[in-house]
Order: sequence, then C-alpha cells, then structure tokens
Amino acid sequence: MSDSPTSETPRPPRRKRYSGKNPRRFEDKYKEHAPEKYPETVAKVLASGKTPAGSHVPIMVEESLESLKLSPGMTGVDATLGHGGHALRILESIQPGGKLLGFDVDPIEQPRTEARIRAAGYGESAFEAVRSNYAGLTKVLAARQLDGVDFIYADLGCSSMQFDDPTRGFSFKHHGPLDMRMNPQRGLSASEWIERTKPEKFALALEENADEPRAGRLSEALAGHVFKSTVEFAHAIRSALPGLDPDTIDLTVRRVFQAVRIAVNEEFTALDTFLRSIPEALKPGGRVAILSFHSGEDRRVKKAFEAGLRESLYTSISEGVITASPDERRDNPRSSPAKLRWAER
Ligand SMILES: C[S@@+](CC[C@H](N)C(=O)[O-])C[C@H]1O[C@@H](n2cnc3c(N)ncnc32)[C@H](O)[C@@H]1O
Repeated sequence: MSDSPTSETPRPPRRKRYSGKNPRRFEDKYKEHAPEKYPETVAKVLASGKTPAGSHVPIMVEESLESLKLSPGMTGVDATLGHGGHALRILESIQPGGKLLGFDVDPIEQPRTEARIRAAGYGESAFEAVRSNYAGLTKVLAARQLDGVDFIYADLGCSSMQFDDPTRGFSFKHHGPLDMRMNPQRGLSASEWIERTKPEKFALALEENADEPRAGRLSEALAGHVFKSTVEFAHAIRSALPGLDPDTIDLTVRRVFQAVRIAVNEEFTALDTFLRSIPEALKPGGRVAILSFHSGEDRRVKKAFEAGLRESLYTSISEGVITASPDERRDNPRSSPAKLRWAER
C-alpha cells in the first residue's frame, strides 16, 4: 500500500519555513511555546537574557516573597496573576492550608495559567483564578465572605505574553492590529481610542502616562487619525519628529505606546481604586507588596503608602524602593526598571 496521502488521508500540515537557524516570529517559536517538551531550548533562550515566547519571567521573586512575610496557612491575593510565576512561589510558601486568589483581566492568558497551576498540584482549596480587575478587590473579597486577607501582591502592567504576542498589538516591534487591550472583550482598542480622542486629551495622556516632553507636537500629528496596525502607528510617531536622533525617536515611540496602553486599559484609574481599597482588605499585620515599572505607577504607590502611614492605616512601610539585583538585571533586562514597595497594616 502506498504511503502517499489520498483525499481521505490529508497530508499533515508542513512546519512553516523561516530563514536562519531559529524562528524569529512569535508564532513560529513552537519549541518556546511548549516548554515541557523542549526544556533545553527554553533554557538557552533564558540564558541569552530573553523571555521565551508565550511565557513571562517573574521579576524580583525573592524580594517580593520576603516583603510579604508569608507563612503556611495564610490567605491572600495575587492581584496580577499573569503567567503565575509569583503565584506558584507564593503557593509554595503558604502551604499547607493556605489559599491564594489570582486576579487577572486577561481572558486569553488566565485560563492557561490556571491550567498550569492546577497541573502543579494546586486544587480549588488552595487556588482560585478570579477574572476581575483588581479595582474590584473589595467586592471580590466580600462575595467570598473574606473579612480580610493576610497579604496582597501586585506586579503592575502587562505580561511578556501580552507584549510579545503580535496579535495583541502592544509592541511597536511586531506587526499586528493596534489593539493593546489586556481584556480584548471590553472597551476601545488603541486604534479606536486614538481615532476618537481630541488632541488636548491625547497630549494630557502622553504627559501623565509617560512624561512625554513633545506631547503637543505628537498629539497634533496623531490624535483623531486612523492607524490600523502597530507598525503604521510607530511610523506616524517617527514621521512626526523630523530631525531627532534615532535613539530619541525610539524612546519617544516607546513612551507613546506606553501612554496609549495605559489610557486604553484605564490603568491609573484601576490602580488608584485598588490602592484605596487595600488597607481595609488587609487583616491587622497583613502586608501588601507592589512591583511597578515606571514613574507614573511608582508615584501612586509611594503616595498611597505614605498617606496610609500618616493616617495610621499602615503601621510601617518600606524605606525607599527595593530594586532588582545586578545579577537579575543582567539575566533579565526587563527587571531593570522594577521598583518594589511594601506596607504593613
Ligand atoms: C506583569 S504581569 C504579572 C506577571 C506575574 N506576576 C507572573 O509572575 O507571571 C501583569 C498581569 O496583570 C494583569 N493586569 C493588569 N492590570 C490589571 C488589573 N487592573 N486587574 C487585574 N489584572 C490586571 C495583566 O493582564 C497581566 O497578566
């Protein structure tokens, strides 16, 4: 009998061709997407200081755990579950008898993370995945008759899975639809937001969300226009700044993408609500630790913790910020801007 496929036995799909030794496109990195099958490939990618496609390298894990002062039997919240790197380490520290609620707004990644956590052996009594914005912390705890929790952790912003996946539209480095929503089922995409936003509001977003010094010029060139793809939008930002050196232009593109992402996901509104709700959500002696990645986030966390200390909502707060070690910065450049702060109820 011949092995050649007939109309009944279709030929299996061929693996995509790519130039060079290793695939460059996110969707072609099939080995990185299956770390359990290809641990050596993943180890090589990590050793080169990169993040394997479809995953996220957790940042400042030891410092975060230390700040939370975890012990077995505790109940608490990971407000930004992401890939579950911090969550898994938290779970280890609170067993036996502990319970973790893992919040996330991302309907694509959260079920994958929940499956990984279940596969690591944590059942319903130890872990619950909560599809909620962390701004809804008070409501979520009340619905579970939880009077207060022992700890709350948050690692702000987007995950590497979101940034690196071109179909999510977060990165100017990859061609994709200009979306940028952590929850693509809600609200306006970045493309729609830019089209509907007036120059004054656009300029304000650039200043407040990314300290952009050329907010006026950029907002005149960008607000109200239709940009369908990440690359098209990045090109328009570059074209709006003739005569600047390439490094300044790159930093500007980065800042504009950050500002639009923050606006589209209403990140600061959610963070302000979350920060206000934390003292009441913690038991006396309970701890919160928050990892932030740019000045707009860190300013808010710092102010909220300092105000909480003055108003006796907190008994102590971290002195200054805790940053990643030189080794971690070298091994994972995404840890470089990270700033960790904690507060105790
Ligand atoms: C930096 S990642 C967290 C990574 C995680 N610590 C880990 O180790 O994999 C941030 C995550 O928080 C989620 N997120 C961002 N803002 C949120 C919000 N307001 N409410 C709930 N989840 C949010 C994002 O969807 C993303 O998955």
